[in-house]
Amino acid sequence: MSTVYLGGDFVPKSEAVVSVDDRGFLLGDGVYEVVPFYEGVPFFMDRHLARLRRSLAEVRIDFDTSGVPDVARRLVTVNGLDRADRSIVYLQVTRGVAPRTHYFPEKPVPPTVYGFAKAWSRPADAVWNRGFTAITVPDRRWMRVDIKTINLLPNALAFQAAKDVGVDDAILVRDGVAIEGAHQNFWGVFDGTAVTHPETNLVLSGITRGVVLEVARAQGIPVEERPIQVEELAHAEELFFTGATGEVRPCVQVDGKPIGDGRVGAVTRALSDAFLALVERTKEAAAVVR
Ligand code: PDD
Repeated sequence: MSTVYLGGDFVPKSEAVVSVDDRGFLLGDGVYEVVPFYEGVPFFMDRHLARLRRSLAEVRIDFDTSGVPDVARRLVTVNGLDRADRSIVYLQVTRGVAPRTHYFPEKPVPPTVYGFAKAWSRPADAVWNRGFTAITVPDRRWMRVDIKTINLLPNALAFQAAKDVGVDDAILVRDGVAIEGAHQNFWGVFDGTAVTHPETNLVLSGITRGVVLEVARAQGIPVEERPIQVEELAHAEELFFTGATGEVRPCVQVDGKPIGDGRVGAVTRALSDAFLALVERTKEAAAVVR
């Protein structure tokens, strides 16, 4: 039985109860974060915390995040995930419990804070080396997807559409631009340059995206932040996704058509290797501190 965090307490999941008046439940009025851990070591906790603070500020939920790193670490520990290869902590903050109104509660209520930890596994090398597939779907999200809100219905519908046709992910397209995946950022390689959407209101500013931009620069791999037109996909050398629960994930087929030669490309491989090397260095640095 997993232990979760709810409203200040660590409790068995079966005992964690949220009110039906919670504004997260009724209105989707909340934000969340997903922090990756490798063998119990948080990966760029500071950046996840900063993004959470920004999300909270943008939706005007008043919540002090100073305790979040400790809560996240403890969730990993109490669930026996200190040695797990890979785990994540999910943390959600809603505006709290109040009779349903479209405006904010008139008398301030404490936000509802819920967190859980779980292990995840990287796909087997043979699967990764074959690459992943995607379809393009219209991006039906609102205009502030830079805020990590719990309103994921368009993402869920897009991902399900992909699953329905037996592919691995959806590429969300708005005004002819391939913005991002349903739960990952999206990249193309053109003339050896790794390209991804700039940080605007139309894309989630992925922490993995930022890390991959940095490791690319450190490797001397050219990068560019610009919109990728959907017509460009046909002549991309490589495509890949990045995210906390995907790391660097090659995409070798879109809408049934192979990308490049239909195999995982050299830039994707180099970036994945560099990303995993940084994970190893982060673990080693934490071991020295411990
Ligand atoms: N998803 N784009 C979207 C729409 C996302 O939901 C996510 C993360 C990302 C990648 O962000 P990061 O590199 O910080 O994980 C991009 C999380 C993991 C989720 O919803 O489970």
